[in-house]
Amino acid sequence: MTKSVVVTGATGGIGLAVALELAGSGFDVIGTARTGEKAERLREAAERAEVGVRTVLLDVADATSTVRAFTEIATMTGGGPWAVVNNAGIAQPGAIEDVEDDRVRTQLETNLIAPARIARLVLPQMRQRRDGRIVNISSISGRVSSPFVGWYCASKQALASVTDALRIETAGFGVKVVLIEPGNFGTDLWERGMALLPQRKTSAYSDSYDLADDVVRRAKALPDPTPVAHAVRTALSVPRPRARYLVGNDARAGAVLDLLAPTALSDYAKGVATGLRTPPEGITRALARLTRRHGPR
Ligand SMILES: NC(=O)c1ccc[n+]([C@@H]2O[C@H](COP(=O)([O-])OP(=O)(O)OC[C@H]3O[C@@H](n4cnc5c(N)ncnc54)[C@H](OP(=O)(O)O)[C@@H]3O)[C@@H](O)[C@H]2O)c1
Repeated sequence: MTKSVVVTGATGGIGLAVALELAGSGFDVIGTARTGEKAERLREAAERAEVGVRTVLLDVADATSTVRAFTEIATMTGGGPWAVVNNAGIAQPGAIEDVEDDRVRTQLETNLIAPARIARLVLPQMRQRRDGRIVNISSISGRVSSPFVGWYCASKQALASVTDALRIETAGFGVKVVLIEPGNFGTDLWERGMALLPQRKTSAYSDSYDLADDVVRRAKALPDPTPVAHAVRTALSVPRPRARYLVGNDARAGAVLDLLAPTALSDYAKGVATGLRTPPEGITRALARLTRRHGPR
């Protein structure tokens, strides 16, 4: 029998890539969208890719919408989905000093509380069937915290903690729980996040916020999220998936550096990268000489 998989936030970026990859690999994919118009666009994208994707309306940050969507999904799948990919997410940027409680709550509601709520809705049926999978999309930010994205990192680090606990709790019932930890991929996540930046001009950190615009512009040139879709497919296809999949060279390098580099050194590097620290004159001159000699590539 075809295995059904729900992919939350399947209307763009990683979620769309995952939905199309899974549908192309023979899964019965139900992609969630926040509006009818976005659901329609998702079905059209699936048609263009010559695969079938069914859609359900869902705002993961709204408990009522979530219960309604998973009741509908239970009917569509004859009891409940075989797997869920908790992908829907937002990125709230801003210095810890600048981000107000409401925005913190929305960040945590969407990236952390929602995947746990969805797990509660699908687990009874998975346990009963003694088969099922839950794949949570975290990030390298779930391991490494950085200035000006502290609340996003907190949401992903907490998601990693919850996922680790859930994996052990459900293993005896035949349910496998996997964490995917992508590095940086070219999606709209950060451009959309920048619209949520608080106190843009009046902040004590506005110079760093201006620097972040460049980072977001460069993010458009990042690779497309196909490798993340492949990792999710693997997590859902192999008999014994790994607990975690780090995806992308930057994620793997970041994880190793985080383990090896002394905190003072990594704090310093993150400070320089975000414009909070200025490197000594000698280092700046040496870097400029290197750039002149080898040129930017
Ligand atoms: N891009 C990266 O480099 C990267 C790296 C590591 C991890 N991730 C993670 O990957 C996941 C997908 O991000 P992305 O990069 O693909 O970003 P994206 O292009 O902005 O896509 C985010 C998706 O989540 C949906 N979404 C947001 N809030 C929602 C809500 N309350 N209810 C339902 N759906 C909601 C969006 O739907 P709408 O279109 O309706 O807004 C969209 O479909 C996130 O969890 C993100 O943290 C991304």
